[in-house]
Amino acid sequence: MKNFLVTGGAGFIGANFVHLLLRKYDDIQVVVYDKLTYAGNLDNLLPVADDPRYHFEQGDICDAARVDEVMRQYNIDVIVNFAAETHVDRSLMEPGSFIQTDVYGTYVLLEAAKKYGVERYHQISTDEVYGEVLEGRSTEEDRLHTRSPYSASKAGGDLMCLAYHTSFGVPVTITRGSNNIGPYQFPEKVVPLFITNAIDDIPLPLYGDGMQMRDYQYVQDHCEGIDVVLRKGQPGEIYNLGTGVETPNITMARLILKLLNKPESLIQPITDRPGHDRRYALDCSKIQALGWRNRYNFEQAIEATVKWYVDNEWWWRKIKSGQQYKEYYERQYAGRELSR
Ligand code: NAD
Ligand code: DAU
Repeated sequence: MKNFLVTGGAGFIGANFVHLLLRKYDDIQVVVYDKLTYAGNLDNLLPVADDPRYHFEQGDICDAARVDEVMRQYNIDVIVNFAAETHVDRSLMEPGSFIQTDVYGTYVLLEAAKKYGVERYHQISTDEVYGEVLEGRSTEEDRLHTRSPYSASKAGGDLMCLAYHTSFGVPVTITRGSNNIGPYQFPEKVVPLFITNAIDDIPLPLYGDGMQMRDYQYVQDHCEGIDVVLRKGQPGEIYNLGTGVETPNITMARLILKLLNKPESLIQPITDRPGHDRRYALDCSKIQALGWRNRYNFEQAIEATVKWYVDNEWWWRKIKSGQQYKEYYERQYAGRELSR
């Protein structure tokens, strides 16, 4: 019996990872530890809510006493840390919470990992730590060149993980993933935002010229990759995790509209994100050497995601109809329209 602590497990990728763990393994307990910020949502965990191997504990990863209590109570063997502030645009508005959770919170979890001698501490990181890559692909050895408060905070977390491995022997692994899409992604991120706006015939706010490139991967592939690294990865090592294929945002927007049978006139160019990274591109040969391959290509991932949002309006309408979301949308998008 192995006891997993999945921090941030009520968020998008964390919840998908909890579903995967409970589907794949019988002899485990999974404890989700989550602060339930605006992005945390217990609806994401409804499919496992009645599973006796699943437990939920509300708490902040920055709260060392509460983390300690949960570590002891459940006799945790493995920590997988998804908890973070994750939206680049919000990091431009309010960087403080990013530094607090993504850097300090990581340190608190690493201290717990060290104290309790866990078998593995796994950190979920991002391709954004390499900064924009106009040509070629980032390998795990590349220097970090962060350009937003979000990516700088994530890089701080990564470096702390490596420091705890070197200084204290904590068995740390890190995955640096590209843009995930799929079920339960909060509709502030571009793909669920565009799908749900398109369903309601609301304009799709496309930043700048729409030629920024992202590697959109299906969340289940990302979660399988994390599981492979937990089983086969070497402590102290970093693994890039993406499809290795990049697509311009305008192409992504057009595909969504085509699948929903909506007109391209819904695309509304707006002023660009400050410091917008033009392209990320990963070299994923290191994780492929462990036997991992993505099963969904870009088109399949978008298609499956569109289908999920069409079939699960109950999930996203609750969020988009809330006052908090409406205020965010107004603050983020009002008055940014550019002429077409
Ligand atoms: P998300 O925003 O959907 O969820 C984050 C979760 O963390 C929420 O449940 C939230 O309540 C929780 N949380 C936030 N602050 C917390 C705190 N102080 N204590 C405890 N819980 C807290 O995020 P996501 O998109 O699922 O991303 C998960 C992880 O994967 C993050 O570390 C992110 O940096 C990384 N990542 C995301 C992507 C992506 O495309 N979404 C790609 C690569 C890496
Ligand atoms: O690359 C991995 C990262 O992907 C993760 O680490 C982050 O947590 C996750 O949020 C995501 O960051 P991005 O900034 O790439 O994702 P976002 O969905 O915000 O934007 C994707 C692209 O779409 C980016 O080029 C900006 C553009 N965009 C975004 C929004 C929200 C738009 O054109 N319009 C929008 O309204």
